[in-house]
Amino acid sequence: MPDTRPLTIALSKGRILEQTLPLLEAAGLTPYEDVQKTRKLMVDGDVDGRAVRFLIIRAADVCTYVEQGAADIGVAGRDSLLEYQPHVFEPLDLGIGRCRLCVCGPKELVEAGPPERGSRIRVATKYDHLAADYFLSQGVQAEIIHLYGSMELAPLVGMAERIVDLVETGSTLRANGLVEELTLCDISSRLIVNPASFATRKAQIQPIIEKLRSAVEVRDKG
Ligand code: PRP
Repeated sequence: MPDTRPLTIALSKGRILEQTLPLLEAAGLTPYEDVQKTRKLMVDGDVDGRAVRFLIIRAADVCTYVEQGAADIGVAGRDSLLEYQPHVFEPLDLGIGRCRLCVCGPKELVEAGPPERGSRIRVATKYDHLAADYFLSQGVQAEIIHLYGSMELAPLVGMAERIVDLVETGSTLRANGLVEELTLCDISSRLIVNPASFATRKAQIQPIIEKLRSAVEVRDKG
């Protein structure tokens, strides 16, 4: 029995969405409503006249929707993929949402040097695993303080000595008297695909991957 459900595409809300839309348009993926304005979380659309639907969700949740098969494909940051390690295919770097995952701290602490092996520090982050792995690799005992956003506040109120967070322009750090200590990895958004969907709906999914790949190439040449 062919799967007749519309293909479901999970998009990350927020600043990535703005950069995703031109790629969708170039690849012929058309939402029927302004996904940046609507309060709807599921929006109908089509690709080449064939029905699709878009889910508009938090970046960190895209991995879950695609891994669970609630969405067939999605746009997810490399930060979420590294943190949650979902079982998904990752066929394409979309080259959007570029930033870096960094260890940062108050200027005076960072200038005093990295925490010594065997020392204890508090680290505010939403990347619990990545932060814990890094400090473990340095022999530093890190107490991970999980936050959902605005990590830069934690050192200002004495709740943490370091943060592990995304840095794009660096303006949030500067505005809060923090500096980068080191970059853990470069980040960009990736197209991800549910493996079972890819197996059962390859004829529909593969052309979308190729169209998005072409759109990325055209954008990068231009
Ligand atoms: C992200 C990130 C930093 C900021 C970095 O937060 O967590 O706080 O952007 O960008 P910048 O280097 O250009 O200042 P976002 O604005 O997405 O909100 P959040 O804190 O709720 O995650």
